[in-house]
Formats: sequence, C-alpha cells, structure tokens
Amino acid sequence: MTKFTPRVFSGVQPTGNLHLGNYLGAIKKFVPLQENYECLYCVVDLHAITANPNPEILGQNTREVAAAYLAAGIDPKNHIIFNQSSVPQHAELAWFFNCVARMGWLNRMTQFKEKAGKNKENASVGLYSYPNLMAADILLYKATHVPVGDDQKQHLELTRDIAQKFNIDFIKTIEENGFGDQYFPLPEPIIAGTATRVMSLRDGSKKMSKSDPSDYSRITMTDDADAIALKIRKAKTDPEPLPETIEGFEGRPEAKNLVGIYSALSGKSDAEVLGEFGGETFATFKKALTDLAVPTLEPITKKMQGFMDDQAQIDQILKEGGEKARAIAEETMKEVKTIFGMLHP
Ligand code: TYM
Repeated sequence: MTKFTPRVFSGVQPTGNLHLGNYLGAIKKFVPLQENYECLYCVVDLHAITANPNPEILGQNTREVAAAYLAAGIDPKNHIIFNQSSVPQHAELAWFFNCVARMGWLNRMTQFKEKAGKNKENASVGLYSYPNLMAADILLYKATHVPVGDDQKQHLELTRDIAQKFNIDFIKTIEENGFGDQYFPLPEPIIAGTATRVMSLRDGSKKMSKSDPSDYSRITMTDDADAIALKIRKAKTDPEPLPETIEGFEGRPEAKNLVGIYSALSGKSDAEVLGEFGGETFATFKKALTDLAVPTLEPITKKMQGFMDDQAQIDQILKEGGEKARAIAEETMKEVKTIFGMLHP
C-alpha cells in the first residue's frame, strides 16, 4: 500500500460575516492539529465567486479569514496559510476532476440544491461543479485529514469517491510511472467533538450561516462585547427550564444549540453543562453564556483586529504561504498530467 505523509488541509470561504459556527466548528479545531500534522489552511477565494461575486470586498474578506486563522493560533512559519487563487493548480486540477466525477454524483449534492434554491437554471456552473474544486483543493496536496463542520461531510465523501475512481481508472499509468498502487489518499474527514453544527440563534432548526439575512442569527468574529451580549439575550428559546439530561433536548433545538455553544466554548461536555445548569431558567443560563462567551471570544476578536490593521503583514504571509503551497501543487499537477498520458515537453 502506498504510504502518504500525514497532512491536513482545510479552507474557509471569504464571503464575509465569519461567525461562531466557522470558529467553533472549524478554525478552532485547526489549531491543535498543527502539533502532529503538516497543515495547509486556505482562504478559498475561488469558491467565493461561485455565487454573488463582489470585487469591492473580496480582498478585505480574504484578509479577514487569514486574520482569523492567525488570531486563533495558526503558525504561518511552520504551516501554510494562503489564498487559493495564488496557486493556479487548484483550478487546473478541478478541470481534471470535472472529467472524473460523474453528473449523477454532483446531482446528489444537497448544498447545491440548498444554495441554488428554486432558481437552479440561473445558478452558475461554478456553483454546480464546486465540489470538484473542493476535491482538487484537498487532493492537490494529497491531504490525509480534513477538519470541517458537519455540513461539509457530503463534499468530503465526494472527494473520496473522486480519489478512488482516479486511483482505479488510471492504475496502469500510476504503476508504470512508479507512483505505487494508489496515487491519491482517501482523505479522512475530522468532524468530531462539540459544535460540528452550530445553529442559528433565531431558529434552532437552521444552520448558523454567513448568508442569513438576520444579523441576530449569528455571532460574528467582529462582534464586540455589547453585540455578543445583545445577540445572546435576543436568542430564541422556549418556555421550559433547561433539561437535566441530554434526552431532554428532544424537540428543543434552541436549548440544545445554546448548551452546545456553551460546551464548545468551555471545553466541557453537554452532560457536564446540564449537570451545572439543568433546571435553571434561560435567563440565568444566557447570563452565564454571555459571561463565558465575551472573555473567550474577545481576545481572539482583538487579535484579529490587530492583524487586520497591519495589511502589509497579512499580505506577506499569504504571499509566502502561496509560494510554499505552489511548490507542492506544481509537483502533483505534473504527475497527474503524466498519469493522464499528456505530453509536457
Ligand atoms: P465555509 O466557508 O462555508 O465554512 C468554513 C468552515 O466552517 C464550517 N461551518 C460550520 N461549522 C459548524 N457550525 C456551523 N453553523 C458552520 N457553518 C460553517 C464549515 O463546515 C467549514 O468547515 N466548501 C467549504 C470550504 C472549502 C473547504 C475546501 C473545506 C473549500 N475547499 C477543502 C475543507 C477542504 C465551505 O464552503 O466552508
């Protein structure tokens, strides 16, 4: 069996309104992986143009995601922070994957159906083929592990399907060219622990999202203490006190969500949090949640602002990261072309 270097890849779209779901479900979990893996954390700007591209703010949003990575504790010296479009091989490999993935596979993608909504005929082709670009992001670096929130699970399964089909369809040229018995790894999703799916503060059945029209639906990574407190105070609840056990969350999505946020921020389990707050009113619990959220998030928000104030530093980090990423990407792309039988004179 081909051995792959353990490597982590993940990405966040620079579409503005970076929120608590992105932080707790993804960015915060990127940080400890740096100890045991080589990590690449990408600001996926090519993905951000698949719907409503906005040239006025794309650059600033890109810096904002990079600033969030840095503020959370990603180390750009020993790992790689970069923006996707600075490595042209992402789009190049995506083309090859357009020719590997099947229409039937993409037709099953629930995120496309949600994002395209009723107006499918008017969605961009890019939005439809987006999962192939995501597979290219990951496989370009032969990443073995991908930390993401729960909503990306289906895209990760598609990435594995693409890797597997490529490995099988091209086994002859993979072996002939000395690449072992498998060219791409089948990357493992890391979707574990708390906050894999943080829900809207206005509706516990909907995911917290950057595109929700209500600002009260999410805590963003630029909210100050007052905004955080106000949003928690206004968060939807139900009339019952907090349940004593996990089973008591049944039919109470808002209670489950607020407790889940508390657990993720405090590092405790839901059961432990219910041990402390079961039977209390939402008013008491919301106060405790605010007292926890503000001092936990504020240092990160402040650091992020500090990085945003020094644009030249962020741009330099992205530039250096892009160079390091490109060195790996160029190698893969050359090999993929060889496997496909292309001449590169
Ligand atoms: P994006 O930009 O929508 O979200 C970035 C990360 O945040 C997670 N996330 C959440 N986690 C918990 N609760 C939520 N409410 C919540 N909302 C978002 C997402 O799961 C994600 O991990 N397609 C990806 C970006 C991408 C990517 C990649 C990720 C492009 N290429 C390669 C991993 C590997 C996306 O749109 O994420």
